[in-house]
Amino acid sequence: MSQDFRDFIVSLPTEKGWVANHLHQYQGFWHPTRQLKGVIACQNHFQAQENDIFLITTPKSGTTWLKALTFALVNRVRFPNPKENHPLLTNNPHVLVPFLDMAYIDTDSPDFSSFTSPRLFSTHLPFVSLPKSVEDLGCKIVYLCRNPKDTFVSLYHFTNRLRHKEKGENSLEEVFDKFCRGVSLYGPFWDHVLGYWKQSLENPKRVLFLKYEDFKEEPKLHLKKLSEFLECPFSEEEENHTVIDQILNLCSFDNLSNLEVNKTGKLPSGEENCAFFRRGEIGDYKNFLTKEMLEKLDHLTKEKLPALLL
Ligand code: A3P
Repeated sequence: MSQDFRDFIVSLPTEKGWVANHLHQYQGFWHPTRQLKGVIACQNHFQAQENDIFLITTPKSGTTWLKALTFALVNRVRFPNPKENHPLLTNNPHVLVPFLDMAYIDTDSPDFSSFTSPRLFSTHLPFVSLPKSVEDLGCKIVYLCRNPKDTFVSLYHFTNRLRHKEKGENSLEEVFDKFCRGVSLYGPFWDHVLGYWKQSLENPKRVLFLKYEDFKEEPKLHLKKLSEFLECPFSEEEENHTVIDQILNLCSFDNLSNLEVNKTGKLPSGEENCAFFRRGEIGDYKNFLTKEMLEKLDHLTKEKLPALLL
């Protein structure tokens, strides 16, 4: 890390991290030290193309699922058979749709030359921190949010898996307090959601705002919505040939989590692929959060997202 970056980091508000040692508040949101390096390099160097598609979430809102669905959707002509030779059968969705800012952690010029058009990128960056060219070129953004209770529980489990054994696990109470104060990966959760919610209202052709729970409850309807937003709607013939169902089955929690690559593989960044598949259900928070915790999260959501009760 350069001395300039170190000097910059010490000028930012800093708190103890959930996994890494520190989180730093930059443009109103919290980032681990290493990731922040990527964010700043990405802001300075990434050049979007007009038909790039950005899949954006807060961590643990269903990013893996959204990546799989969108990859299968936009590439359905190249890979028409979801049972044979489909890249999702042998690659984790995070490999097929990489995190944009993380590609900049160790270099100012990552190689995206192998990407086919439209390029699919993902990020957890809040709207205010997106690289300028994404906004200037009016690139399409798909935002997926999830109710904060399940998102928090999922984040609690995921970050404990990522922590070094010798550090021990974070206590639920400690990280719950942090989450409520907004001190979580790319948090505050509510500000993140609100930023994209507002953009989706102002510019619905550019930003599609989806909810994990809605997608789970009516997957067909939402996949069609996504295809229309991305200007690759299903033809009548495709609908008759159950292409929608095939994509949904390919990307289902049961199918993806049981693939060998996702049971035993690892990402280039070191995380085990299986860490991205835990339960994949709505309402698991009931098994972990006390009545007081639920009331607190509900209160925060009512206060901060009155227009969008999750
Ligand atoms: P749980 O921890 O509640 O099970 P992300 O992909 O943003 O990291 O989010 C991970 C969450 O999405 C986890 O939630 C995971 O189980 C769930 N998930 C992963 N793949 C999924 C799929 N294909 N369908 C539905 N949920 C999925």
